[in-house]
Amino acid sequence: MTKTTPAAVPQASRAAREPEPRKADNPAPIVRVMGLKKTYWSTRGALDIFVGLDLEVAAGEMVAVVGRSGAGKSTLLHILGALDAPSSGTVYCASTNVAALTPREAAAFRNREIGYVWQFHYLLPEFTAQENVALPLLARGVRKPEALAVAADWLRQVDLEERAAHRPGELSGGEQQRVALARALVNNPRLLLADEPTGDLDDITAGRVFDQIERLHRSHRLTSILVTHNLDLAARCTRALRLEGGRLTPLASTQQTEPQPGNI
Ligand SMILES: Nc1ncnc2c1ncn2[C@@H]1O[C@H](COP(=O)(O)OP(=O)(O)OP(=O)(O)O)[C@@H](O)[C@H]1O
Ligand SMILES: [Mg+2]
Repeated sequence: MTKTTPAAVPQASRAAREPEPRKADNPAPIVRVMGLKKTYWSTRGALDIFVGLDLEVAAGEMVAVVGRSGAGKSTLLHILGALDAPSSGTVYCASTNVAALTPREAAAFRNREIGYVWQFHYLLPEFTAQENVALPLLARGVRKPEALAVAADWLRQVDLEERAAHRPGELSGGEQQRVALARALVNNPRLLLADEPTGDLDDITAGRVFDQIERLHRSHRLTSILVTHNLDLAARCTRALRLEGGRLTPLASTQQTEPQPGNI
């Protein structure tokens, strides 16, 4: 692995640091989205993805987002994680006005506050599992021996300490996703954003990866937003929302109703 020089963490601009307005006696939620609009423009004209989307997520919640393909689920996670910009509206995420971040601030915000897990693991094939998990630490300027030691501990937390020296091609799909989960959480983010983290796995393996997400969500007091097509997994979250027509609506009270079987 090449030596990584410490990355300077820029201070957030004044607009991004402005404290989120709070209601009296009501602590600010970790995610607050109000009147979000997102329009993509192409040669064929405007494509309105969100038309006034609202979302509040309290610290510690595990929220599932379901919806048909193309509804905008990935776009929503990208905006929350400062990977894409809203067209208008307010987006506070982990006490940060994400729309006001410069690209450099957005990169530092993601590294510090957000753990991302994608449908495909995006592990670097030439590095071992342990090195892959260590990469976000090295990007922050943590020295290699310390980064590798922390990465080893995270591999233990996803029950993969015996696979530390394996390259991604020498791991099963479920194991690759658990390494990706360890990599997402190695910087101790407050928020876990997972975009169909089990979408590429068979039902049994998907259930096991979800078990691990649930366990780490609890033990690290995370706030998690998970996009899934699997209604059984959505029903295991504290709340499930459907994204449709550019807005979010409650799917059902996941703790009071029987989960609907199958996928959507
Ligand atoms: N950069 C872009 N430019 C133009 N249109 C885009 C862009 N990114 C996404 N879209 C469009 O926005 C819509 C929402 O895309 P998005 O990827 O958020 O859907 P999704 O709900 O995640 O779907 P899936 O379940 O298939 O992953 C789609 O119709 C897509 O074609
Ligand atoms: Mg998507």
